[in-house]
Amino acid sequence: MEPAAWPGVFREGRDLYTRNARPGESVYGERRVARDGVEYRLWDPFRSKLAALFARGAVPALPPRVERVLYLGAAHGTTASHLSDVWPEAALFVVEKSPTSFAPLLALARRRANLYPLLADAQLPERYRADVGLADVLYQDVAQRGQAAIFAENARACLAPGGLGVLMLKIRSVTQRLPAAQVVREARRELGVAGLPVRSETPLAPFSREHAALVTGGPSASSSDH
Ligand SMILES: C[S@@+](CC[C@H](N)C(=O)[O-])C[C@H]1O[C@@H](n2cnc3c(N)ncnc32)[C@H](O)[C@@H]1O
Repeated sequence: MEPAAWPGVFREGRDLYTRNARPGESVYGERRVARDGVEYRLWDPFRSKLAALFARGAVPALPPRVERVLYLGAAHGTTASHLSDVWPEAALFVVEKSPTSFAPLLALARRRANLYPLLADAQLPERYRADVGLADVLYQDVAQRGQAAIFAENARACLAPGGLGVLMLKIRSVTQRLPAAQVVREARRELGVAGLPVRSETPLAPFSREHAALVTGGPSASSSDH
């Protein structure tokens, strides 16, 4: 097992792993392996877009410290559980708007003390910004229209200026009408206008089709609410 991508992420052969914060437990049926007395959970790029980003070789630079994370669209917590492994000392605020998905997310958070679940709509960051404070990392994976606008609003409300933003853009949730490249270009433009220039753009195929990962920094002082 060798260190890979971010601190707390490991690689063995082509497979990615995180060190299991809850040894003996899988979260979504993923394989666990023990090496030198440490248990790791397999991080499947076909199940998690962040693992797909790493598998594509695009590793976003982290801020010097990660103490607070805002995660929008956590669903059942597949990816969030790996981030919970990666940053055991951080507070991860995981937002999900569907009550059906929120129930398993809540159950997961009961077993992982660094997950703070919020049943909320990511379109209304004013509802949770006081709880979240300033996040070092903003991660968004919501399949709906207006994804770039939602990301920009949340960055303005909750992302620290030196922070990291990762938008997993689901192209076909934005529109069915326009070519994929145009949808991505428009999202990049919207983020740029919001003071969040895109540092890198990575298509997630073959792991996640019709998705592009857009990586930004935190908002510039003039475009933030802080
Ligand atoms: C593709 S799934 C997320 C998968 C998850 N990020 C993972 O990797 O484990 C998208 C989720 O976003 C949620 N969602 C969509 N619109 C949302 C919104 N406005 N606010 C919060 N969650 C939203 C959906 O209910 C769904 O659970």
